[in-house]
Amino acid sequence: MLSRLLRKKTIGHVDQDSSLHRSLNALDLTLMGIGAIIGAGVFVLTGIAAATKAGPAIVISYVIAGLASLFAALAYAELAASIGGTGSAYSYAYAGFGELIAWLIGWNLLLEYIMSVGTVAIGWSGYVNNFFDAIHIHLPDALTKNPFEGGVINLLALLIIITLTALLCLGVKHSARFNAVIVFIKLITIAVFIVVAIPNVEIQNWSNFFPFGWSGVMQGAALVFFAYIGFDALSTAVEESINPQRNIPLGIISSLIVCTVIYIVVSALLTGIVPYTTLNVRSPVADALLKIGHHFAAGIIAAGAIAGLTTVMLVMFYGLSRICLAMSRDGLLPTSIANIHPQTRTPIRIIIINGVLIGVIASIAPIDRAAELVNIGTLSAFTFVCAGVIVFRWTHPSIARPFKLPLNPVIPILGIISCLYLMINLPAITWWRFLIWTLLGLFIYFTYGMKNSALGRQDF
Ligand code: ALA
Repeated sequence: MLSRLLRKKTIGHVDQDSSLHRSLNALDLTLMGIGAIIGAGVFVLTGIAAATKAGPAIVISYVIAGLASLFAALAYAELAASIGGTGSAYSYAYAGFGELIAWLIGWNLLLEYIMSVGTVAIGWSGYVNNFFDAIHIHLPDALTKNPFEGGVINLLALLIIITLTALLCLGVKHSARFNAVIVFIKLITIAVFIVVAIPNVEIQNWSNFFPFGWSGVMQGAALVFFAYIGFDALSTAVEESINPQRNIPLGIISSLIVCTVIYIVVSALLTGIVPYTTLNVRSPVADALLKIGHHFAAGIIAAGAIAGLTTVMLVMFYGLSRICLAMSRDGLLPTSIANIHPQTRTPIRIIIINGVLIGVIASIAPIDRAAELVNIGTLSAFTFVCAGVIVFRWTHPSIARPFKLPLNPVIPILGIISCLYLMINLPAITWWRFLIWTLLGLFIYFTYGMKNSALGRQDF
């Protein structure tokens, strides 16, 4: 098995000519993590979840979803440092569970990443459209709404995807610098919200703390879990990181901890400054500030949200292209798309293909349909990553582990239980769509991947 793993690692880590450029340090990675994590979840879903699922107890939903994410993050950190591979959970599953499971994990990661970039693009376009309305530029419905809402195309969502596609094609260092600036702006806007909100908290807004009971808290947690998605994208940057064994675990865990603290504070304050029943709107954080009379701060928050959603898309799109790269290097996706461009050192074909797919989704899909599939795909991948730690400790006790999660197997088991529990709290329709996606994946594997995979063609 170990020789198989090592051979797999050799296949995953290709020769010099096609390797990526190492330029990301620990700070870049932490900023990339924060860039990917804080986005539509806190800026949009917090309000919806508080108003319709959990009430002020949304803060507990955030703690629960944060704990599940932290368990998974520790598992990711260990596997990223010891196995590596640009394909994240896909690479770990390949080494730990074999090709079929790896394919299914990779297939679910594609669902997670494509849909989440598309979802956030649709949310981004809503914020930008509100901004245009505020400065009296009114775009026609045909260009702002998808066909399901009576429009033709969501042009703003398409334009941001085209822009990000070009940025990623130009190279990771450009993107990381761009990301760092915007993450800074995003953190400032959140600080503005906190400073303005604290003196405006009305304790009576928390008096009905559990309006929907415990099941509401759990459904809220299953929804706001979306807010934590993104740290896993860092594990796809192994080949572009300086000292990845140290810096990837550091980046994953520090970015997740920073974001968890921010979410708990923001969600508590949001339900503290206005009644939770008023938060089911498209831009709840900015709207809440408007309601308490802080118009300038509300404008800053809206601008920060637009910046924040941009970095989420950027990092998730980056992660998506790296997972596709790993899968195509292994032959499960066509190998012809895995070429690294000699000048930019980026996988341009993969980035463009994904850009087209996401652009189509962002242009025509309704945000709710796109969003609901993201969490289930991610939670299933997280479950396998936690299981992967236990399997690897058992099957390969002596491989180098520069980062080891504490209390094995307690932490990975808690990770598995909490991820499965959140999945159970997602709606039945989401499970059906997930099943259809999985069946489609199995069909593609048995008709294409199995015959063309590089590992399958090795002579063991
Ligand atoms: N965590 C990311 C967001 O909230 C996906 O937008």
